[in-house]
Amino acid sequence: MATIIITGANRGLGLEMAKQYAANGWHVIGTAREPEKAKELQAIDDVKVMQLDAADDASVQKFADQLGGQPVDLFINNAGIFGPSEFDRDEWLDLFNVNVIGPVKLATALKDNVAKSADRKMVVISSQVGSIAENETGSMMYYRTSKAAVNQAWNCLAQQWKDEGLTLAMMHPGWVQTDMGGENADLTAQESVEGMRSVIDRLTHDQNAKFYDYSGREIPW
Ligand SMILES: NC(=O)c1ccc[n+]([C@@H]2O[C@H](COP(=O)([O-])OP(=O)(O)OC[C@H]3O[C@@H](n4cnc5c(N)ncnc54)[C@H](OP(=O)(O)O)[C@@H]3O)[C@@H](O)[C@H]2O)c1
Repeated sequence: MATIIITGANRGLGLEMAKQYAANGWHVIGTAREPEKAKELQAIDDVKVMQLDAADDASVQKFADQLGGQPVDLFINNAGIFGPSEFDRDEWLDLFNVNVIGPVKLATALKDNVAKSADRKMVVISSQVGSIAENETGSMMYYRTSKAAVNQAWNCLAQQWKDEGLTLAMMHPGWVQTDMGGENADLTAQESVEGMRSVIDRLTHDQNAKFYDYSGREIPW
């Protein structure tokens, strides 16, 4: 049975990923900052719920230690935060802690687990607004910079690890009806995750370091 790790799996896109991957026969390890409150995640069959705060190095290390040498076919760094609407140094730094530094710390901690699996894939849930080429409005500067930064960081890891057979990719889920996306968003979480699963399933090593949306469109840097 293939194993997947999904961060931020207690709500939103992460919860929907946990439901769909479990329903499709994967062993799902879903993380939450407060596992005891993650009732919907706990209710899914064959999901192991583990504690993880992506902004806390000790939590990341404890998570990796608890996994031990277990092979992990697919690591999806989904956890992320949005904001602020105007300049706030601490909130901007929070965005970088959760959206950039956390994913890099986790990918590094989990690299050996992924390298020893059959599929050897790592995907970060980024955003189209991280694309510099497609930024024609200048809105959301703080969030945008965190997603542009994680794209570049993921690209660095993808280049550093390519000869070890790992495939790293970035994904834009679309504008999705979650707490972050709001109720007027284009897509349901079910539609977005069905699309992303299909793109991730078809990923091959020659697509290492590519940036796709949920429909499979390649997004320019
Ligand atoms: N929804 C959209 O339209 C959209 C569009 C583009 C990209 N995205 C990206 O898609 C991903 C998922 O978004 P979503 O819409 O599902 O958001 P969401 O509904 O707000 O859920 C965010 C998830 O991230 C977790 N999280 C936040 N801070 C964390 C931390 N420090 N450590 C670990 N987990 C943390 C949250 O846990 P708590 O419950 O503990 O806060 C929650 O599980 C994010 O990376 C987001 O940037 C979303």
